[in-house]
Order: sequence, then structure tokens, then C-alpha cells
Amino acid sequence: MKTSVYRKEHFNAAHRLYNKSWDDEKNERVFGKCSNPNFHGHNYELIVKLTGDVHPETGYVYDMKKLSDLIRDKVTNRFDHKNLNLDTEEFRDLNPTAENIARVIYDLLRGEIDGGLDLKITLYETERNYVEYPA
Ligand code: NI
Repeated sequence: MKTSVYRKEHFNAAHRLYNKSWDDEKNERVFGKCSNPNFHGHNYELIVKLTGDVHPETGYVYDMKKLSDLIRDKVTNRFDHKNLNLDTEEFRDLNPTAENIARVIYDLLRGEIDGGLDLKITLYETERNYVEYPA
């Protein structure tokens, strides 16, 4: 009887989509306004989904207070109000697309959560554009 629990969080961050091995003209052609050299911001909505068995003693899949603290400590404290390209180790050499941000968030959380629970990250970059990892 697998059950999923979800925690929604939010962070603001700036980024620039940029491939170092391309010139500015090609970056602009591929990434458009998202490659603006002076950066731009997004209000990211993050949904962390855990799927597993309901524990018979607690009735929980996972303690949501613990999940909320974990996301804050590992993810939102790290990225909120940051320039992802300039202020974070994770995106110094990794293009901060929503795809890559979702995967980095997964990797930051995966080691902290019991391996018996499935973890899925959904990240909204805008209301209409969002990614899911793993697919
Ligand atoms: Ni952008």
C-alpha cells in the first residue's frame, strides 16, 4: 500500500543560461533572453514527493516536519536569494537550467532520506514551465 506525501517549497534565485564553450552570439541564439549577461530571476516552486509504505506505528510515510527542515537546510538555505551561477558551487560549471537544478536538488536530498522511499523532484521555473526528476 504505497502512499505518496508531498512538500511544496519556494525559493527565488537568479541565473544565466550559458555554455562556456560557445560565443555570446550562439548562447543568445540558443538560450534567448535567458542568456542575458546581466542575469535574471525566477520564483521557483519546488515539490518534493516521497513514496513508500505507511509506517504502522506512526501512520506516516515520513515526518513532514523533518522533511520541511531537511529541504530548508539542504536546498532553500543554499539557493534562496542567490545568483546560481556566481554564488553556488553546484552551478559554477553546470548550466543552471530547470533540468539541472532539479537533478542537483535530488542529489542533495537523496542521501538524507531512507533508501526505501522513492524520491521525486518537481521544479516549476514559471507557472507554465516545470520539470520532473527522475522522469
Ligand atoms: Ni531563466
